Amino acid sequence: MKIAILPGDGIGPEIVTEAVQVLNALGESFEMETAPVGGAGYEAYGHPLPESTLKLALQADAVLFGAVGAWKYDQLERALRPEQAILGLRKHLNLFANFRPAILYPELAGASSLKPEVVSGLDLLIIRELTGDIYFGQPRGVRECPDGPFKGQREGFDTMRYAEGEVRRIAHVAFQAARKRDKRLTSVDKANVLETFQFWKDIMIDVHREYPDVTLDHMYVDNAAMQLVRAPKKFDVIVTGNMFGDILSDAAAMLTGSIGMLPSASLDANNKGLYEPSHGSAPDIAGKNIANPLATILSAAMMLRFSLGLPEQAERIENAVKSVLHQGLRTPDIFEDGCRKVSTSEMGAAVVKALV
Ligand code: IPM
Ligand code: MG
Repeated sequence: MKIAILPGDGIGPEIVTEAVQVLNALGESFEMETAPVGGAGYEAYGHPLPESTLKLALQADAVLFGAVGAWKYDQLERALRPEQAILGLRKHLNLFANFRPAILYPELAGASSLKPEVVSGLDLLIIRELTGDIYFGQPRGVRECPDGPFKGQREGFDTMRYAEGEVRRIAHVAFQAARKRDKRLTSVDKANVLETFQFWKDIMIDVHREYPDVTLDHMYVDNAAMQLVRAPKKFDVIVTGNMFGDILSDAAAMLTGSIGMLPSASLDANNKGLYEPSHGSAPDIAGKNIANPLATILSAAMMLRFSLGLPEQAERIENAVKSVLHQGLRTPDIFEDGCRKVSTSEMGAAVVKALV
């Protein structure tokens, strides 16, 4: 089994190093190959997604991704910015189904900014469509405004769109995921304003006929944002488009105390996937050995389960993470009085030690 390791920028290399150590400690024989991506790709080859990196990702059975982005690349033209690496990988690998679970570990109930009773026991799954919507719709750009009160001025524009097949396939993924959980699916849209999302909603209702055992409800995205912080435990599985999913998943992440805890999986139709923490490259704390590696370690666990067919190994990692939290070990982002503050590398080593 071949794993492409793409550490990227900022804290990416530090957290990926810890996840690789955990993988190496499992006693399986993985073939791992590392390649630069994001700003690191730009430095090495003049492009955020170098051809050799893309080739490796296409060949591998799974991709473990750190994070990309740093301030110094913000001035580059869009096509060369680090974010293009992750967007390009999603597109080229057809990773249309993004799983972002938000689970609150009981030990971290105090780390959430919400009251413990609102979040304790939280276990929700956001399924975000990842290769369509306004992120990839054409045309886009800056043009001369064709009419209206601003006629003749420059205007920026993007295209929000979803093809029927795109909505159907993410709907099936979501219903099937809900079926394995509490069988409640909430489709988040903006059907009251947007044609694209009225269409989305209609397709969801149609696909639902194949899953009578799952309850489907619909929520406008603004209300969903409110409900996520008001009563997040009411949700089981949320399915939504690319942009709404981007926004809601950050909000959901914070319910759990730290975005440093949340893994993610981005899958194609055959369960090949890219696994990355839900957080970014955090350039402000890069190189300080204080970042939380648990989201990346848990992403590696998702990789074992979804792409590599090793669910018992995934569980070993997840149990080891629970164990280190139970031991009171905390990186600074989740630190509370009475716990032991540890570094990135100490946390990684503790997870390795806690593997049983
Ligand atoms: C995410 C990120 C990306 C996105 C950025 C880095 C392009 O915010 O994975 O949520 O918007 O999808
Ligand atoms: Mg995001």
